[in-house]
Amino acid sequence: MRLFPSLALASLAAGFVVHERDTCIIFPESLTHDGEAVDDAPSIHEAFERCGKNGKVIFEKGHVFNVNSVMNTTGLENCDVSLRGELRFSTDVDYWLANSYSVVFQKQSTAWLFGGENVTFRAEEGGWYNGNGQTWYTQNRNQSNQPGRPISITFYDSKNLHVDGLSIIQPQFWATFVWASQNVSLTNFYVNATSDDEWGTVNTDGYDSWNSRDLLVENWVVQNQDDCIAVKGNTTNLLVRNVTCHWNFGMAIGSVGQYEDMPDYVEDITFEDVRCYNCMEAALIKTWQGIPEGHSSNGNGGGGGSGYVKNVQFRNFEVENTALPIQISQCIYTENGQNCNTSKMAISDITYSNIKGTSRYNIGSSIYCSDVHPCPGIKFENVELDSVNSTLDLPLYGTTLQDEVFQCTNIIDQEQSGIPCNRKAPSNYGQAVFTNVKDDSSATEDTEDRTEESTRDPQVRPKKKPQEKLAWE
Ligand SMILES: *[C@@H]1O[C@H](CO)[C@@H](O)[C@H](O)[C@H]1NC(C)=O
Ligand SMILES: *[C@@H]1O[C@H](CO)[C@@H](O)[C@H](O)[C@H]1NC(C)=O
Ligand SMILES: *[C@@H]1O[C@H](CO)[C@@H](O)[C@H](O)[C@H]1NC(C)=O
Ligand SMILES: *[C@@H]1O[C@H](CO)[C@@H](O)[C@H](O)[C@H]1NC(C)=O
Ligand SMILES: *[C@@H]1O[C@H](CO)[C@@H](O)[C@H](O)[C@H]1NC(C)=O
Ligand SMILES: *[C@@H]1O[C@H](CO)[C@@H](O)[C@H](O)[C@H]1NC(C)=O
Ligand SMILES: *[C@@H]1O[C@H](CO)[C@@H](O)[C@H](O)[C@H]1NC(C)=O
Ligand SMILES: *[C@@H]1O[C@H](CO)[C@@H](O)[C@H](O)[C@H]1NC(C)=O
Ligand SMILES: *[C@@H]1O[C@H](CO)[C@@H](O)[C@H](O)[C@H]1NC(C)=O
Repeated sequence: MRLFPSLALASLAAGFVVHERDTCIIFPESLTHDGEAVDDAPSIHEAFERCGKNGKVIFEKGHVFNVNSVMNTTGLENCDVSLRGELRFSTDVDYWLANSYSVVFQKQSTAWLFGGENVTFRAEEGGWYNGNGQTWYTQNRNQSNQPGRPISITFYDSKNLHVDGLSIIQPQFWATFVWASQNVSLTNFYVNATSDDEWGTVNTDGYDSWNSRDLLVENWVVQNQDDCIAVKGNTTNLLVRNVTCHWNFGMAIGSVGQYEDMPDYVEDITFEDVRCYNCMEAALIKTWQGIPEGHSSNGNGGGGGSGYVKNVQFRNFEVENTALPIQISQCIYTENGQNCNTSKMAISDITYSNIKGTSRYNIGSSIYCSDVHPCPGIKFENVELDSVNSTLDLPLYGTTLQDEVFQCTNIIDQEQSGIPCNRKAPSNYGQAVFTNVKDDSSATEDTEDRTEESTRDPQVRPKKKPQEKLAWE
């Protein structure tokens, strides 16, 4: 080829990689195959094998790299990676379901395992990740946690890893997962999962961390249909800063407490400068109930796990038209709303400060701690939430509760918490809110204010209403 004199020689080797000193430049196979989408994963592996230790790996600018098979580029050392083209993941659903790598957690899997020590990975000069997710959304048909549906990229077994500037468009499943790592910073990310048909994108979390510490998530924009940022078990010392979320479940800790034999310890987590537009939730802590339920060992069944969530700050949040801005639930996935008061997860020292904006319904927060572990150290400071309708001087429909509702159960020293509690939090209050809180007196039984009792509405939520099984759970 005229453009790259050394290319013909290089391509005699297994892949299409130009190797000069410590630098490997990857060119796509399509260049020598009449534009055919030949798999570039072998070349990518070759580049990382040659230059993944004390070297540089460059995806040459302006090209499309077809990824038709799983990638394992782990064990890197002192390596700088520059993505300057499009990584286009194939849509051979059967292949990926059968071949994606296990990430252990919830029996999920990933299309790409990436990791090492002293590594940078920069998407620059227009480089991006195309998960080709529409095919995944359509075939998934709103199922929850489809086994084998791959996480776009998993940062695994890493130390001192900085990933910057990556856009993940139409992720196949969760966009990113940080696992068994320390000191990992993911900055300037853009994630967008948007379906163009009747099926939702389901489980397209922007970020998840598990068994990792000393983490940074900064300057992100996420549009998707599940958690914006989710903190799973054994995450310690995570700072999430300057994140804008659209249409999703906001900042989540959990779910935790899913597995009886694996305690989850989560501590020292800060979320700050967060914006949630049209979200379902903004600041959420979700644990499983204390008694295992359900038969699936993926994300859809479990409970009985112990551990704690402590020292969490949610600060400087701007929420707009968000269904349930603040929630703590200790039985988020329980069936039939049972065993809600049994969670073995202890939640303590959670501060919500400068949380301002509008709720979609008449509810600002629902904080339910279990009988087993009432929560100490829950604090509101400058939480100003009002429903969209109240701010427009419009009434709220189907309810006698025109003032913002703040539901509370089992908060230790509630009077000192700063939370304007005006209703008892039902144990099984769901993660997805679609209506105003009605004047269900059952929820106010234990509070002083029982004024709503006389106006009991026949449409009140039955105490033991089976919770709808929702796809994004
Ligand atoms: C990934 O590659 C590393 C070594 O490069 C190997 O030790 C590991 O087993 C591989 N992981 C998987 C899931 O194949
Ligand atoms: C990574 O960088 C640190 C700090 O510079 C150094 O101590 C360590 O040896 C490096 N690790 C590797 C695998 O080179
Ligand atoms: C964390 O990783 C960054 C590179 O991303 C490095 O500059 C920094 O020194 C590391 N911190 C520690 C405490 O090793
Ligand atoms: C996400 O993508 C959809 C479809 O292309 C677009 O309409 C929407 O504006 C994007 N969201 C953000 C936050 O960029
Ligand atoms: C799938 O879920 C989405 C989002 O929850 C919903 O809007 C859509 O109606 C569901 N699709 C079908 C066909 O049920
Ligand atoms: C916040 O992040 C956005 C991109 O997501 C960026 O444009 C903006 O400059 C960041 N703000 C600050 C203060 O860093
Ligand atoms: C969390 O770490 C502890 C050890 O500190 C371990 O026993 C437990 O299994 C881990 N939990 C998970 C979910 O990996
Ligand atoms: C939980 O609530 C049920 C009634 O709904 C009660 O029978 C049970 O004793 C409670 N469990 C605990 C641990 O308080
Ligand atoms: C807000 O007011 C509009 C217009 O009257 C009404 O359609 C809507 O149902 C109200 N929203 C709520 C949450 O009550």
